Amino acid sequence: MYSGLVHAHSGLRWIALVLLVVASLVAISKWLGRSGYTDGNRKLYLFTLIAVHTQLILGLVLYFISPKVNFGLLSEKVYRFYTVEHTTGMLIAIILVTVGYSLSKRAIDTTKKQRLIGIFYGIGLLLILASIPWPGRNLGAGWY
Ligand code: HEM
Repeated sequence: MYSGLVHAHSGLRWIALVLLVVASLVAISKWLGRSGYTDGNRKLYLFTLIAVHTQLILGLVLYFISPKVNFGLLSEKVYRFYTVEHTTGMLIAIILVTVGYSLSKRAIDTTKKQRLIGIFYGIGLLLILASIPWPGRNLGAGWY
């Protein structure tokens, strides 16, 4: 079960990243172009939120069963990364995406709706990119 969860969590990163990139770009271009808000936009932003929340659920389960989470070994890079850095960075990013989605949903002005998604999803995306254990960082993780 552990290995299956790691693979699911690792592979789903790509779906979450593609959705975040597309959602942020669409929102920013529609915000700057003041070109309205469609039902397709609403669905794209919702699917992005769902992908990020699925990562949160998988990540939370992994946090309790992963051998790489160990508060007694924080002086070692790999343990510190998964126990503190990865989790804190991702939690902040997921909070930003969630707040952006709900503020945008409540906003009435269509340009404001797009601006809120563009800013909150965009910053969330940058934080997620910075918190991923990319292979070059030697944190024991692969590409998928
Ligand atoms: C969008 C959010 C997230 C993304 C894109 C993401 C991505 C990843 C990736 C790519 C790995 C490496 C998997 C591998 O070994 O190949 C990983 C590992 C891990 N993640 Fe996340 N993560 C996210 C959120 C979270 C959250 C919120 C938590 C905790 C609450 C979490 C906990 C973990 C843990 C404990 C591991 C280590 C698993 C292991 O190899 O034993 N992740 N994550």
